[in-house]
Amino acid sequence: MSVQEINVPAPADFHVHLRQGKMSELVSPHVAEGGVALAYVMPNLVPPITSAQQASDYLASLSALAPQTKFVGTLYLSPALTPDEIARAAEAGVRGVKSYPRGVTTNSEGGIEDYETYYPIFEAMQKHNMVLNLHGEVPSNADAGICVLNAEEKFLTHLFKIHRQFPDLKIVLEHATTRKAVEAVKQCGDTVGCTITPHHLELIVDDWAGKPLNFCKPVAKYPDDRQALRDVICEGHPRFFLGSDSAPHPLANKYPSAVTHGAPGTKASSSGDDDLEPTGVVSCGCAAGVYTSSILVPLCATLLEGFGALDQLANYVSLNGRKFYGYDNADDMKNGSITLRRASKGATGSAATVPAVYVHPEYVEVADSDASKVQVVPFWAGKRLGWEIVRS
Ligand code: DOR
Ligand code: ZN
Repeated sequence: MSVQEINVPAPADFHVHLRQGKMSELVSPHVAEGGVALAYVMPNLVPPITSAQQASDYLASLSALAPQTKFVGTLYLSPALTPDEIARAAEAGVRGVKSYPRGVTTNSEGGIEDYETYYPIFEAMQKHNMVLNLHGEVPSNADAGICVLNAEEKFLTHLFKIHRQFPDLKIVLEHATTRKAVEAVKQCGDTVGCTITPHHLELIVDDWAGKPLNFCKPVAKYPDDRQALRDVICEGHPRFFLGSDSAPHPLANKYPSAVTHGAPGTKASSSGDDDLEPTGVVSCGCAAGVYTSSILVPLCATLLEGFGALDQLANYVSLNGRKFYGYDNADDMKNGSITLRRASKGATGSAATVPAVYVHPEYVEVADSDASKVQVVPFWAGKRLGWEIVRS
């Protein structure tokens, strides 16, 4: 007889985007709704979070929106950052620094162009036991043969080099998508960990090509890569853990030309002279990001059960990441344990059916065609999850 209930000790999401303004109001409470007690929050805001003070203010704003969640902050690696600021940030409880190579994803225009420039920062981080979070892709460069499908593999030399130079620095390779990345992390020492998103446990190239809601960075890769991600979860390898990379974007930015400007090539909203580029179309095309916060732990349970790893759920969504980051003591874990139960089959519209869309309450009455409307379509919208959270 298959298991019907599972207790999961205080799930933690070690990579989540909670944004600012109305979007933050909409998505921050979803962290707890998805079963997560601790959220490690990314700094790619506009402007990015580059100081201890900014990080503290941001975390306070998130806590005001979702008091039941423990939020942990990060800084954005950029030339603005100094070793002194690292010391202040460590003192203020900021746990890590996120590195984005310039131009590879959302709000990465201020990202970095080489790593050696930042060695004094890494030195200070090592001293203060801060974690370096690496977006592990190099920018596309057709002349050099680099595109989104091999950008992660080409990055791995940087991982090895930084690890060699700073063996005591805790490093997390974020949202790994390839067999090569899994092997690289395994080859490194105990100071190197790796987040794996639930959507990368599910998607392959065919699932995002032409399907903006599944498009994220790094893009999902080949079936064999997905198998490597699944295998390392099945194995329960202690340095691989949940970082959802849940990244909400307004629907209008996922389908920019269709939603905000009518069919491409029409003059409907164009004030420029290029008929093929109506004004305001996001120049990079569809925004990168998959949204999973609101359904996170039930989604993970459903996916892990699908490839025979349900017994690894607690390791994946809680214990491994907490141990790596040092949030595994009894005090950190005393609140936030959850129970999941198998969702009953049958009528649609149960708690286990993923909502079609989330809309900020102030925008419910606004026409769907209004691009400013804060509405987010979650991963697996309208599909049924195999597990649901027991709410008391
Ligand atoms: O798909 C992504 N979305 N990947 C990232 O690295 C950033 C994120 C976002 O902030 O939207
Ligand atoms: Zn991210």
